Amino acid sequence: MVRLHIHHQGKVIQIESKEGNTLLNVLRENGFEIYSPCGGNGTCGKCNVMVRNEGLVPSCLYPVKESIEVILPDKREARVLVEQHQHTVVLPLMPGKCAELSVYPHGIAVDIGTTTVVLYLVNLITGVISETMAFLNPQTKFGADVITRIQFTTTHDKGLEILQKELISSLNRVMSELIRFAGITENEIIKIVFAGNTTMLHLLLGISPKSLALAPFRAQFLEEQILQGEQLGLKSLPQAEIKVLPSISAFVGADIVAGLASIAPSDKYRNYLFMDIGTNGELALVTDSKILCCSTAAGPAFEGARISCGMGAVEGAISAFCENEITVIGDEIPAGICGSGLIDIIAFLAEKGLLNSDGQLKADYLVVPETRTSSGKAISITQDDIREVQLAKSAIASGVKILLKQAGITFDQIDALFLAGGFGNYINTESAVRIGLLPSEMKEKIIPLGNTSGTGAILALKSVRFDEVIQKLLERTQHIELAEDEDFAIEFAMNMHF
Ligand code: FES
Repeated sequence: MVRLHIHHQGKVIQIESKEGNTLLNVLRENGFEIYSPCGGNGTCGKCNVMVRNEGLVPSCLYPVKESIEVILPDKREARVLVEQHQHTVVLPLMPGKCAELSVYPHGIAVDIGTTTVVLYLVNLITGVISETMAFLNPQTKFGADVITRIQFTTTHDKGLEILQKELISSLNRVMSELIRFAGITENEIIKIVFAGNTTMLHLLLGISPKSLALAPFRAQFLEEQILQGEQLGLKSLPQAEIKVLPSISAFVGADIVAGLASIAPSDKYRNYLFMDIGTNGELALVTDSKILCCSTAAGPAFEGARISCGMGAVEGAISAFCENEITVIGDEIPAGICGSGLIDIIAFLAEKGLLNSDGQLKADYLVVPETRTSSGKAISITQDDIREVQLAKSAIASGVKILLKQAGITFDQIDALFLAGGFGNYINTESAVRIGLLPSEMKEKIIPLGNTSGTGAILALKSVRFDEVIQKLLERTQHIELAEDEDFAIEFAMNMHF
């Protein structure tokens, strides 16, 4: 056995480990959260920790052979978006039969994002949201994107169990806080609704997501699931109704269903685009007669993974950039760049001619010198970073074009571009248009909606009528497999340009 002294949040904790285990595993096993978006495959370079007398080391590649002293970075708080949008469909308060299970019924709507999980506590007598809380999905440490997490379930003993347990125990921790805050008991939680992407919902229910990552990419379930609180071990009344909203396909999940269903029909917006850019890019084109939707393999570039100085939208991240001025979340010393900052910087480079239309960077671009960063490492944009963004933005832009083509309509027939998710609220739309992530034709019609998945989950919690809205939506929805469209490859090549 070897002994490790861990410096963490002002304390020194002593732990022991078998010789030869990786430092990342040792830290995880002892409850320390280390950001490791590639899931410990040694490819993302984000899991660095400081080892005394050795400096920064990638913890997933570092075998613990002797006693060492490890200094962990401070935990950073995530910036999360928790408000609802104003285009929400209005439904009567009808939580269903489960409301009879308590005289003071409450429910919780949960949006399980790949990166962030948001919970809304709702009083089911008044319909008022009493409190909202969010936390970083604890599964992030096993991989930033869904594919890496699916791999984790197949390559690790009890991988599926570990991921499910991590999520449920974090949910229970935050649910306890919500319950305490509202001054109720867990027996008053009589309904919980979950929205999320298809992979997250498989992991929540402990159902293997393996088939989602293998051709022909089939889900184990897409339809709504109803369970009882005790089946998932949630902090609720044991008989509480647990509803998992339906998904459309392996990569268009209940988060998109919930978001689309939450938008009120309006004569002003008869045809519209709906985009959710997160660790994946999901798109939908809604017209009078049908809804076409698809997912793009955009990858998590806009969430900081696979970008040399990338990081999530947490304190210390550069979130906006213009010449001579950077904005850092939390007004901290900069530590890296998150998606919105990345888009601004690339738009700036393209505008100044430092990046040509093919995506060639004249030279690495220094954003912040090492003397002014929290890590002592310079923050720069490299050619590889540009390549990652190019692939991601082209996938999304091409997806939009294919949806329009298949629907037989043009941009001038589209009334709005609704942007879902936190990312949509924080990006500078001009920069996003400049780099070709969002269509220039829609520049004046972009409307950020915030966390539409959460909004949909709240609606499903409050009103059984939302089930009918979802049902009707699913009946007119068609899933498009982008790779099967003969024009996709050409579009993809054309949209690589800046
Ligand atoms: S390099 Fe270690 S987790 Fe990615």
